[in-house]
Amino acid sequence: MLKATSVLLDERRIFKPNYELVEEAHIKNWEAELEKGKDLEKYWAEKSEQFEWFKPWDKVLDESNKPFYKWFVNGKINLAYNAVDRWISTDKRNQVAILYVNERGEEKKLTYFELYREVNKMANALKNLGIKKGETVSMYLPMCPQLLISMLACNKIGAMHSVVYSGLSVGAFIERMNDANAKVVITADGTFRRGKIINLKNIVDEAVLQCPTIETIVVVNHTGSDIEVSELSGREIFYDRLIEGESDECEAEEMDAEDPLFILYTSGSTGKPKGVLHTTAGYMVGVATTLKHVFDIHDGDLWWCTADIGWITGHSYVIYAPLLLGTTTLVYEGAPDFPDPGAWWNIVEKYGVTKFYTAPTAIRHLMRFGEKYPQIYNLSSLKVLGSVGEPINPEAWMWFYKNIGKEKIPIMDTWWQTETGMHMISPLPVSNLKPGSATMPLPGIEADVVDKNGKSVDLGKGGYLVIKNPWPAMFRTLYKDKERFVKAYWSEFPGLYQSGDMARKDEDGYIWIQGRSDDVLKIAGHRVGTSEVESALVGHPAVVEAAVIGKEDPIKGQVIKAFVILKEGYDMDSSLIGELSKQVRHELGPVAVIGDIEAVEKLPKTRSGKIMRRILRAQEKGEELGDTSTLEE
Ligand code: PRX
Repeated sequence: MLKATSVLLDERRIFKPNYELVEEAHIKNWEAELEKGKDLEKYWAEKSEQFEWFKPWDKVLDESNKPFYKWFVNGKINLAYNAVDRWISTDKRNQVAILYVNERGEEKKLTYFELYREVNKMANALKNLGIKKGETVSMYLPMCPQLLISMLACNKIGAMHSVVYSGLSVGAFIERMNDANAKVVITADGTFRRGKIINLKNIVDEAVLQCPTIETIVVVNHTGSDIEVSELSGREIFYDRLIEGESDECEAEEMDAEDPLFILYTSGSTGKPKGVLHTTAGYMVGVATTLKHVFDIHDGDLWWCTADIGWITGHSYVIYAPLLLGTTTLVYEGAPDFPDPGAWWNIVEKYGVTKFYTAPTAIRHLMRFGEKYPQIYNLSSLKVLGSVGEPINPEAWMWFYKNIGKEKIPIMDTWWQTETGMHMISPLPVSNLKPGSATMPLPGIEADVVDKNGKSVDLGKGGYLVIKNPWPAMFRTLYKDKERFVKAYWSEFPGLYQSGDMARKDEDGYIWIQGRSDDVLKIAGHRVGTSEVESALVGHPAVVEAAVIGKEDPIKGQVIKAFVILKEGYDMDSSLIGELSKQVRHELGPVAVIGDIEAVEKLPKTRSGKIMRRILRAQEKGEELGDTSTLEE
């Protein structure tokens, strides 16, 4: 039996770099790069030179109003211009920018020049819908080219996007849409998943009834299914009709380096989802530099990041970083095991993928089917592998290393967050690897493990993972909530960024992430807020109160364990369990995987009425309850 989160803290195996790879790598000498990174401003100033600026910046970093840092002060730039337009006057003009592949084996290729024209048409169409610089466009789309095109179109005209993951459902959608004040939402009829077509439009239809700011619903007719897509309401229009006749030229908006780029909602431990706000130039510099260094991107690479674009990994590393580097990015729609568990390895062989980035949960899922499937395919095109989203247990690391990397290819275990925007702690191809450790902070990043007073712990000890210096792709605030931004991230350890993770530094200084220090759940690598699940449960007439915690799961890492207090007259029988699960799925979507629901008489609370999930977790695992002095009774 696999143990999902069993990061063995005494894992001592060391895997040396692949020296052939290091010979051609951008960073051949880790120490030298680290040394350069110590002069923060000079380091990032140099990295900013890869882009075309409309006006150069005056100052790299403004720290005068911490923690509201500013990067590349007074610089003027446009992301879409640098990710697309810039390449069409080079020999990349006819190179494939986006290679879309789905589980049905269908493909669509867009060259940089084709992408340029599509982005411009959509940018003009958005302008015609009345979208102005600084306004928000929401998207609820599957992994399809129109999603990338729409995001780039927003950047081109200076609008923000707010992408909602299509695995989230009605309640989550309403909350995010209303917080972002979106005027336009772009969606699709459906998406392909494990041989079926999942209807997305019906979720939007239900949700928009409670989203008063939405003026227009743009519908991509993506699956060609007979799912009903009416244009009856007067505020719906098909994507193709919207862009019909639009000019394929559109001037890029001159954006200030600090102009907002996008909002992406993520879960905290309490309250509503947090609207993580990223701005333009620093984000561009951060994501492009890290992809280039960590995955050693060169001309000729075929890059495949399996994350959904609805999460930060997809934003930063499916779309923005690869296009900013002029790479070909593979966009896959579908399940990893459909039509069979060799589906992904088939794609690697068929297209010659060179760099492959995925999540531990996917590896654990595919491991179950054995070594047979990867053996069928020729995976020799691969040069670098990567992992993200949760700690990778050494068993999964070894399976990935042996069966996919054939014991020659390094695995970049990248630690970062929606808030950090870019990789923060990660090996480079030149690093020595230990299975289960994200190794060390990248050059230019100062991460540390501290005790509760904010003091560095000794090597070999555990504590709170913090970041000590600013970095260009850092989020700038929480949308419309500066106070929460300061309180949630910058107050616990003054002057340090509090990541919310626990970690341990081993005797070599390698960092081992041990999971969240707060109540946030990680289900199949997806961040799910306890409060969102609880409010979905309380939405059911049978439930008075609810508390949820994470329960270990061998494949998904965690699933939900819910404790509920039932109203009189209700019993926790299988039909009620079914109804409650359905309720959570309806509100939150398939990301919120329920493992267990238990009826209880009481929930452990502090005297001020806060649920102590820590006590529930300890009880569940049969561990000591720890300090119970604040417990109500
Ligand atoms: O707990 C850490 C875990 O994922 C959290 C961030 O989640 P999210 O904002 O959804 O972004 C995920 C993708 C960047 C972190 O606080 N996490 C992410 N990467 C790793 C990880 N835990 C261990 N090892 C990683 N490589």
